[in-house]
Amino acid sequence: MEPPELVLLREANGKVFAVEMAGGERKIRGIGRINPEFTLAGLEIGDRIKIGTKLFTRIQPGLPELRVSMTRRAQVITPKDAGFLIAWMGIGQNDRVLEAGFGSGGLAMHIARVLGPNGHLISVERREEHAEVGEINLRRCQSTFSDFCSWSLIHGDVADSTEQIRNIAGGIDAAILDMPEPWHAIPSVETLLRVGGRLACYCPSPDQLATSWSSVEEAGLTVEWAGEMIERRWALTKRGGVRPSNTPIGHTAFLLIAVKAPEEEE
Ligand SMILES: C[S@@+](CC[C@H](N)C(=O)[O-])C[C@H]1O[C@@H](n2cnc3c(N)ncnc32)[C@H](O)[C@@H]1O
Repeated sequence: MEPPELVLLREANGKVFAVEMAGGERKIRGIGRINPEFTLAGLEIGDRIKIGTKLFTRIQPGLPELRVSMTRRAQVITPKDAGFLIAWMGIGQNDRVLEAGFGSGGLAMHIARVLGPNGHLISVERREEHAEVGEINLRRCQSTFSDFCSWSLIHGDVADSTEQIRNIAGGIDAAILDMPEPWHAIPSVETLLRVGGRLACYCPSPDQLATSWSSVEEAGLTVEWAGEMIERRWALTKRGGVRPSNTPIGHTAFLLIAVKAPEEEE
């Protein structure tokens, strides 16, 4: 089902508000009480509108705007880790990529943006209520970007979905597992991976990293990179210089990337 149209309004101070063109009259934080279907009807990209005392411009959504306005349920993978995984694993045009769990679709949105019209993203999620939220976010991307990839959503446990994935895509070029116990799925996902393809695990805790590490090695893969991406933001000072901002350096997860190397000749 298509999610309701999302209209993005940018205030003069740079704040962006995402408004769903459904739901009738309501109070929208930062904007005020409006009925979007009435107040915003006919507003084109680039048009300005005054609501109360504030002036807004309707803007074209890009991935950053869709990301900040996404519907959330499960914890999402943010650009810090998504960008690194995509770059290190070499995910790009025409690839067939498997990701599980799909959750709110945070990672899926980033992957889908780089696969191009001939790429294929296969998302697997075992909790119906999480998949429903993720699907809203992915469908929004699909209706925003004309060069969107093929997308398949499988409801179920990724460890039991091997045949379904094979039927959809043949093999896969890359797989990213963001779930509490990826080691249950690693042996079956490895069988789908082409030689030279890469599998990554997103592990919030060191224990998960350690168990995933031994599991990918038991499956015959070679670990290429394991560690944590640290993001440190800087800010402008009152005097016009820059300095590390007061934003704390937070932990998201340890990442593990392994490659399926060709078998050694005897
Ligand atoms: C942290 S969330 C994933 C977030 C998602 N990657 C994102 O960026 O928005 C973890 C998800 O994995 C799902 N999950 C856990 N084990 C699974 C399995 N064996 N197969 C499929 N999904 C699984 C959970 O239901 C949950 O929605």
